[in-house]
Amino acid sequence: MRIEALHDDFGAKITGIDLALPLAPHQIESLNAAIDEYSVLLFPEQNMSDEAQMALTKSFGEPEESHIAFGRTGEKVYIGTVGNVIDDKKKRGESDPQTRALKGNNLWHSDSSFRLVPSYISILHAYEVPAEGGETEFVSQRAAYRRLDAAKQTAINDLHVLHDYVFSRTKTAPVDDNHAASLPPVEQKLVRTNPSNGIRNYYVGSHARSIVGWSGIESRHLIDELNNFATKPKNRWSHSWQPGDTIFWDNRCVLHRGTGYDADRFRRNMRQTRVRGTGITLQE
Ligand code: OGA
Ligand code: MN
Repeated sequence: MRIEALHDDFGAKITGIDLALPLAPHQIESLNAAIDEYSVLLFPEQNMSDEAQMALTKSFGEPEESHIAFGRTGEKVYIGTVGNVIDDKKKRGESDPQTRALKGNNLWHSDSSFRLVPSYISILHAYEVPAEGGETEFVSQRAAYRRLDAAKQTAINDLHVLHDYVFSRTKTAPVDDNHAASLPPVEQKLVRTNPSNGIRNYYVGSHARSIVGWSGIESRHLIDELNNFATKPKNRWSHSWQPGDTIFWDNRCVLHRGTGYDADRFRRNMRQTRVRGTGITLQE
């Protein structure tokens, strides 16, 4: 396994490993260590399948069910399409409600930060990618926390934040009543600490609604400031997908977003799974 850094703040490209084969315990250990160190891992030229991706996901912990399917129908689904393909011939266009709902992914976010136990990692594999657009961008909230001055770090260290899916996602598309009712706002720590290396990061993104105990105006001022500081263009790493790319990202400490693409002109087929975090953030 070869590891090559991708950006000053975070990210690594990993070659010399076949993620579709069962991983040995020492490989899982090395990859968990790489997640703790680099936050985003790119594995080019993987020969993935849904079965292999599910097995891979289980190597890192408990798969997290889609909150969308579960909220709407009560069904537990562990792998889903990110994109617009239906099958080899059919795709959804720009006006399709599902295409519109997925545009919520174009706001900076951390997957499942609105769940009581948020995600550890997401695993996204590309099968078909648009000829234009469709990049995914990442930033490190660890580097952002490190760049705050000490007084600011101290001022935010013990704050709690409400994360709310309905707050963030109704900006781009309506959220079904059943789904909205299944996701009441949850309280998270604003500053999280990696349990293996002790490195701290702040934890905001578009689902972060308000600071517990603060007014709306003060809350938005701080959350917007932290989001803007973390997502400055020079701190981003943008990935232009190739079919066969698999990316792991650490939702505990990075934000990501899609850049969007024209669903009327292009097909995009990516499959996503997530590994549940180990507990609620308030007990970290
Ligand atoms: C996701 C996501 C962004 C993209 O899969 O969780 O936010 O580029 N994807 O599709
Ligand atoms: Mn996402």
